[in-house]
Amino acid sequence: SVMVSGALMAGATSAYAADACQDGEVKIKFSHVTNTDKHPKGIAASLLEKRINEEMDGKACIEVFPNSTLYNDDQVLEAMLQGDVQLAAPSLSKFEKFTKKYRIFDLPFMFNNVDAVNAFQQSEAGQFLKNSMQRRGLQGLAFWHNGMKQMSAKKPLLVPTDAKGMKFRVQSSDVLKAQMSAMGASPQPMAFSEVYGALQTGVVDGQENTWSNIFGKKFFEVQDGTTETNHGILDYMLVTSTEFLDSLKPEVREQLLTIIAEVTETRNAESYNVNQAAKAAVIKAGGVVRTLNEAQRAEWVAAMKPVWAQFEGDVGKENIEAAQKING
Ligand code: LMR
Repeated sequence: SVMVSGALMAGATSAYAADACQDGEVKIKFSHVTNTDKHPKGIAASLLEKRINEEMDGKACIEVFPNSTLYNDDQVLEAMLQGDVQLAAPSLSKFEKFTKKYRIFDLPFMFNNVDAVNAFQQSEAGQFLKNSMQRRGLQGLAFWHNGMKQMSAKKPLLVPTDAKGMKFRVQSSDVLKAQMSAMGASPQPMAFSEVYGALQTGVVDGQENTWSNIFGKKFFEVQDGTTETNHGILDYMLVTSTEFLDSLKPEVREQLLTIIAEVTETRNAESYNVNQAAKAAVIKAGGVVRTLNEAQRAEWVAAMKPVWAQFEGDVGKENIEAAQKING
């Protein structure tokens, strides 16, 4: 089972992690689920690893476990509370058990682009969201960007009714389930590591994700094509446990948080370009990409936007208004 393989991996890799660390160093394990190449999160995690191991040598050491080799996103936060991992960066959709406030980021057509997402996150209301899980033992450290989501399926998707009756994989988020239902499709929550196989075998017919994930996990190979809907965003919270953060010596904590802030700024500025490169790589590899004309796009908006009303109570009307103001 998934639980057993997670536990086995943790056991199998700990000797290796210990090798990479010296006595007396604070040991940090960072578990995530994506690839490392042409991927905003993968690149940011690798840069963080490099900088901490170089600049904090003797004080701290870090090892990154990408590609769900250690934990899936539905296990990693529990593992963090157990002290088995110290850093993770699940998408904002994956925090439902800890806070419903992040649901604003899943609402379709809430943000026009990643710049708008960034502006909202940097506002006072956005920064406050990093602290919304403290009582549950988690501390948000930084928003990490991926980008806008696209929609792929085993048949061409040009208007939302094209999705009727098909099964779409979603992340474990009630908003995303409601969004797929609003299209007349059937939402199937599933771990990221299982999506390729599910598309290949027809367990699901389609999925939504960013270009970097569609390229990184080769979803385009087992789909008819991908439609550039830009209908929603996929972003991350770099997160740790309050217990781990509190356990650090002040100067170690300070240096770690400074490196995290710098890596965040550097890599977030590149997330759009990284996704565009992944899109180009999909096309180069023979993937079909479809774009929408204005009338088609209006149909997607009309089908999906009614979902907002269902979640207004969770995310707050004032936050929806603030997000819309930022969109301009
Ligand atoms: C997904 O499950 O589709 C994404 O959250 C994966 C990721 O980390 O980008």
